[in-house]
Amino acid sequence: MFKKICIIGVGLIGGSIAKAAREKGLAQNIVAFGRQQGVDNLRRAKQLGVIDEYYFDIKSAVKDADCVIITTPVGAMESILRQLKPFWNEQALYTDAGSTKGSVIDAVNAVFDYVPANFIPAHPIAGAEKSGVEAAKADLFRGKRLIITPVDSSCSQAVDKTIKFWQAIGSNISIMDVEHHDAVLAATSHLPHILAFSLVNMLGKKDEQEEIFKYAAGGFKDFTRIASSDPTMWLDICMANKKQIIPLIQQLKTELSGIEQMLTGDESQQLFQTFTYARQARQRFLNQFDKNMSQSITFKVQPGGSMRGKIRVPGDKSMSHRSIMLGSLAEGTTHVTGFLNADDALATLQAFRAMGVKIEGPENDEVIIHGVGKHGLKAPKDPLYLGNSGTSMRLLSGLLAGQNFDSVLTGDESLSSRPMKRVTAPLLSMGAQIKTQDDGTAPIYITGTSELKGINYHMPMASAQVKSCLLLAGMYADGETIVTEPAPTRDHTERMLNGFSYPVKRDGAVATINSKGKLTACNIDVPSDISSAAFFLVAASIAADSDVTLKHVGINPTRTGIIDILRLMGANIEVLNERIVGGEPVADLHVVYSQLKGIDIPEALVPLAIDEFPVLFVAAACAEGQTRLTGAKELRVKECDRIQVMADGLQQLGVDAQPTEDGMVIQGKTMDSIGGGEVYSHDDHRIAMSFSIAGLRATAAITIHDCENVNTSFPEFRELATKLGLNLT
Ligand code: S3P
Repeated sequence: MFKKICIIGVGLIGGSIAKAAREKGLAQNIVAFGRQQGVDNLRRAKQLGVIDEYYFDIKSAVKDADCVIITTPVGAMESILRQLKPFWNEQALYTDAGSTKGSVIDAVNAVFDYVPANFIPAHPIAGAEKSGVEAAKADLFRGKRLIITPVDSSCSQAVDKTIKFWQAIGSNISIMDVEHHDAVLAATSHLPHILAFSLVNMLGKKDEQEEIFKYAAGGFKDFTRIASSDPTMWLDICMANKKQIIPLIQQLKTELSGIEQMLTGDESQQLFQTFTYARQARQRFLNQFDKNMSQSITFKVQPGGSMRGKIRVPGDKSMSHRSIMLGSLAEGTTHVTGFLNADDALATLQAFRAMGVKIEGPENDEVIIHGVGKHGLKAPKDPLYLGNSGTSMRLLSGLLAGQNFDSVLTGDESLSSRPMKRVTAPLLSMGAQIKTQDDGTAPIYITGTSELKGINYHMPMASAQVKSCLLLAGMYADGETIVTEPAPTRDHTERMLNGFSYPVKRDGAVATINSKGKLTACNIDVPSDISSAAFFLVAASIAADSDVTLKHVGINPTRTGIIDILRLMGANIEVLNERIVGGEPVADLHVVYSQLKGIDIPEALVPLAIDEFPVLFVAAACAEGQTRLTGAKELRVKECDRIQVMADGLQQLGVDAQPTEDGMVIQGKTMDSIGGGEVYSHDDHRIAMSFSIAGLRATAAITIHDCENVNTSFPEFRELATKLGLNLT
């Protein structure tokens, strides 16, 4: 790529760049410029083969160099640039690795009065507590982020070349503007360093000789690792970026005082919430950005037991998503209770925050949404990351197609492999400008338009997500948007739109909407999710001596397929205290053990129990005789291929489960129904929970790997399951 790279300042960073460039064959010749005082370091760099030569005069160092990389501390930038200026070569690429970019640009301006087109500021987000060339590693930047902060005058070829260079080294590239970079880094790097330094300062001064360091193996050591970083460099960085850092220190003080008050006032519930929020937020970001570091959770279920007790499972996932979406677009303030405080619904919540909506909570299960009106959303700065949530991605596609700004939707590995053409195809025929990858998967790129036109669409599959996506797009389209479903699917969107006073016409399988309505804020009480209750409906049905009541469960007729199917299998389920809450039917479900029998599941019930089949397969394994499911091809494109994954897992546990193209045939057994063994969740929360329930009828322990995804829909699953009697650790 380059004939000669000149590194200015070969320490840890410069040395690692040189090593990586050499390993990848990116330069024929790599030299360094340094000061006389640093001669030992430069000599060492040459001895180690990191560089070919070093110079103390800059003219010789940069002679014929087609790439100059400045890796000195940011405070030295101005003086280095002054020395470089007389030998500036318009044909070469100049870049740096400084941790603050505003100060670098200031230095460039101070020397040149402008930013030369071939100077491209860059910042590799990698480092180590060790410094000096001895610590340099060729893989320091591999898999790490590299931020490039071009300015208006930057030449695009030089930007491209910088990108290619760092990509060749193995970094993941992001482009940001200078100010944004400095704000992000102040929060994610500079403030944490200041905290680590100040904590060691405070505790060290107090009793350095005594306890602290002797017992420093715990949190103190983890937390203060970065206080071993180079003080000169950090002095430099903090001074250079103090404009961004100081307000953050103020915010941190407020946060700490809040915690102090909670402790003083014995407000343990609030403190618990503070810690829980932080823990969940950290887990979410690890899942998103650092799969390797995310905590892996393995469930182990001991065989047998019965389920007894009364519980309330968390709020309905589908309604929680919709409450955020419609509440955000409403005029006025919407109070939501019963909100599902789990990753999927939070993905939607964060997306609307990123589009400028002020949302308070979730606190307990309450959320307050300060609606911005139908046309009040703002362009998100970054792609909207939707985690594992298909509902968020598909519904947002429709909603965002008609906005006056562009957006990009991304998700985790599982979501990024799910089919999105089912929404983008009809949206395209409405005039949306929307693109997926060639294979129809995310990321989805949306160019907002005010030109959407209503369509008359007959859905090829029974999907509430597709229907809802089109109804939301229809709120921004010219004329009527008419959606016909081949079989009834959940109708929470239609009901909730009505709740927000937005007119939707419903006539059997047909729903019709237009852009003339507006949403008026209202209060929403989200009932418990029948899809979460389903695990316990099956658990109590298969475990002898069980008696469970599930309180305040949503029993919308488009969701109650699980009750109908289990009853056909002989389950003993009573629906008690039926009532209407906020336009949705709700009841308490009382279930006691009953020996189940195998059935042919009526196809008409499939869409009404679409999320419950993993746990229904477990019920089938414990039923007398054969259970056959057909007409359920959709299960192959859920969070995982639920037909294959459940068949594999059940077979692993000794169950006779045969997958078919659109369903499964299971030969159930009343004795020794399920064996022990190890299974995997395949990134699917409902698989993890279903195999946990299988433990009740297993002959030996079942280990289920990768259960952290249970947080997507039911973070309290283990707590509630064990409360009822499942021996799950
Ligand atoms: C959902 C609809 C269903 C369901 C999903 C939630 C919704 O998906 O599986 O968990 O909230 O609209 P499909 O519409 O793809 O069947």
